[in-house]
Amino acid sequence: MSQDRPVILIPGKMHPRALERMTDLFDVRQIDGADASLITPDLATGVAGIATFNKVPASLMDALENLEIVSNFGVGYDGVDAGHAAGRGIVVTHTPDVLNDEVADTAIGLLINTLRRLPAAEQWLRDGRWVEDGPFPLSPLSLSGRKVGFYGLGRIGQAIARRLEDFGLEIAYHTRSRRDGVAYAYHDTLLGLAQAVDTLIVIVPGTAETRHTVNAEILQALGADGVVINVGRGITVDETALIAALEQGVIAGAGLDVFEREPHVPEALMALPQVSLLPHVASASVATRNKMADLVVDNLVSWFKTGKALTPVSETPFTRPAR
Ligand code: DGY
Repeated sequence: MSQDRPVILIPGKMHPRALERMTDLFDVRQIDGADASLITPDLATGVAGIATFNKVPASLMDALENLEIVSNFGVGYDGVDAGHAAGRGIVVTHTPDVLNDEVADTAIGLLINTLRRLPAAEQWLRDGRWVEDGPFPLSPLSLSGRKVGFYGLGRIGQAIARRLEDFGLEIAYHTRSRRDGVAYAYHDTLLGLAQAVDTLIVIVPGTAETRHTVNAEILQALGADGVVINVGRGITVDETALIAALEQGVIAGAGLDVFEREPHVPEALMALPQVSLLPHVASASVATRNKMADLVVDNLVSWFKTGKALTPVSETPFTRPAR
């Protein structure tokens, strides 16, 4: 192991720009996946940092006795055991803010695609059906006049909400506690929010507390015109309950960028015309992913140079002990 350059482990794939920058700056070691059994004795003592696409279990951290920092590519870090990292004094960082606008823009696109069935309309044209069969069927739903409820109103949620203000829509939200300086109607329960709106935008982190909180009861409360848009994490929505609600007309539609078992999407969802599906692409433009890649590397650089991470997660607000 290099004496002067911190050793950074990459378990699995990494964004090419992040990899190139890290290779210039650090002693980079790659293994096939986030699997503690792949850790050799020299890695076990030598690794000081990990760069990851949201997968670092406690077992991998525990195989690395001198691990100081886990730099996660993505604002969501549900695949990194941050609680365990906190207990061991390891800082976890993520990539907030640089993706807010991209994810918010995608959420608006997904919402409109869902309501107006634009992907199916384009397919109709491409398949020659406009010529053969005439106009594409009118969309049963429209954005106009919708009451939109946000489940989660963090930085990305607020960016989506600001865009929807310009559409002249009523906006409400549910979070654990009321947000200061936010004028939208607050509901202290998710059920209360679902009863008050017809469009639910899910943008909460995927945690044990949020898992399956969008369930059959919430979908029922949204009602027959109800639409669910999920750009947060798949596990927040009970996919089985969602499919049943769509099939039985309990709600009218759904737009999903995230799924419970990515990259696997249930056939039953794909079969439904009132659903718009994306393969987890909300932040996936070259420009935004480059910014995220830079933040992954800049967090590592800052940690080893100044002893402070740029964007640590709330569970690990640590500075580097003096050495
Ligand atoms: C994130 O940043 O968490 C997005 O879901 C992209 O992975």
